[in-house]
Amino acid sequence: MSLSNRGSQRTRLLAPGGQLYNFFRRISDEWEPDYREGVVQLDISENDLMWPELIHKNLTVQDAHKWPSISGRMLPSCSSALLASFASLLGEYFKPHKPLTSDHLVGGAGCTLLLEQVVRAITDPGDVILIPVPFWSMFATIVAKADVTLCPLPTIVNESDGFIPSGTAIVELESLLKWSDATEIAWHEHIAQLAREGKRSRAILLTNPQNPLGRCYSREYLCRIADFCEKEGHDLFLISDEVFALSVHDPTVTRTYLHHRHLLADSHRMTGFHSILSLEADKETICKSSRFVVLWSMSKDFGVSHAR
Ligand SMILES: Cc1ncc(COP(=O)(O)O)c(C=O)c1O
Repeated sequence: MSLSNRGSQRTRLLAPGGQLYNFFRRISDEWEPDYREGVVQLDISENDLMWPELIHKNLTVQDAHKWPSISGRMLPSCSSALLASFASLLGEYFKPHKPLTSDHLVGGAGCTLLLEQVVRAITDPGDVILIPVPFWSMFATIVAKADVTLCPLPTIVNESDGFIPSGTAIVELESLLKWSDATEIAWHEHIAQLAREGKRSRAILLTNPQNPLGRCYSREYLCRIADFCEKEGHDLFLISDEVFALSVHDPTVTRTYLHHRHLLADSHRMTGFHSILSLEADKETICKSSRFVVLWSMSKDFGVSHAR
């Protein structure tokens, strides 16, 4: 049996002497406190804070099968008992504006797969999903599986919002998460341009807390982006990937490098997490809640990425 052309091509890249060989060798050489020559990987967002607790409880996959919550009545997507327990968890931590029940939830094997399903449900081939930059690079692959294009939306940074024009390209991360009139105008023009090219924009995909910035969007920003989705001529879903919702730093304690260097005022302190579910639709925002789709999984907050 032989490999396909693309299979052989990839094998050559990874074989000794191939373009990716040294790269993968280098990144597997991990940094340790007593081995400082190693590499610290910044591109993998794995949360291991729960691991000591999980190991302490000595949980196994067999244990999971014994949990009564998993063996409830099965719905097409998931066990109803499992959905009920997620509704209660999210109800407690996401502070939804309206009480959350299992009827509001659909289960699946993680955010990645659920996002793919959501995209298939709301788009036709050739449609566009919009995403503010920067974003988790896998989104482009996930969306492409549904023959849909991911179009980056520019992030407009104002000097007054904390941009430090020092020539060293230091940007206070939270300044990238601020809504401004300039943002609204630029995004509106972007959608209009796509429409002129015959491309239909269907949704904005937000990650909150943001990956890769590791910061939360303010409530004000979430309301404005929701308004933007509702506005005439936009007609967009707002998909909010909140997979890191419970893994945020306490905003009152955390201070950034720039604060320590007295480059930024306290007004730039980190923002706490607000779920899209907590927005009071028709009051805080003109957006109808039927436009909101929220994604969450246990991967990050419970340190079980790859468990499916
Ligand atoms: C923003 C974001 N969403 C989703 C995922 C993956 O979620 P899941 O493991 O539930 O598919 C990741 C993983 O890094 C992520 O960074």
